[in-house]
Amino acid sequence: MKIAIGSDHGGLELKEHVKKYLLDKGVDVVDCGTNSSESVDYPDFAYKVAEAVKDGKCSNGIVVCGTGIGISIAANKVAGIRCALCGDCYSAKMAKEHNNANMLALGGRVVGKDLALEIVNSWINAEFQGGRHERRVNKITDIEKKYMV
Ligand code: RB5
Repeated sequence: MKIAIGSDHGGLELKEHVKKYLLDKGVDVVDCGTNSSESVDYPDFAYKVAEAVKDGKCSNGIVVCGTGIGISIAANKVAGIRCALCGDCYSAKMAKEHNNANMLALGGRVVGKDLALEIVNSWINAEFQGGRHERRVNKITDIEKKYMV
């Protein structure tokens, strides 16, 4: 598993915390920034992480901004990305099992550090269940294709 990770300034602290946790676990992590507390624009980092996942350079991506909202909305504009904003472990597990979410978004100003790691674990350890869920995910892809130029 190779995980791309990125944040804006609002998510920097949590991004660093999650990155360290994953590295300590032996996970291969690609840090797409930001790396300072200077104010930046979350779509730039959503795009970097989403591109790494879309291109297959990384199997999964994690993005963090203040709420996780803006950065997840931006990531979901990249074709093939299913980025789930999660604030609890159940949703994180379901995001993989039912929605095959290849990216996870967290709110750095919303979730505490320990909960964030539990959420990351729930998502990483879950497996897509396929079956009827595959049919539904394929329908998401169909919608996406309709709007591709
Ligand atoms: C930045 O202040 C903040 O707007 C951003 O981190 C994020 O919460 C946007 O959705």
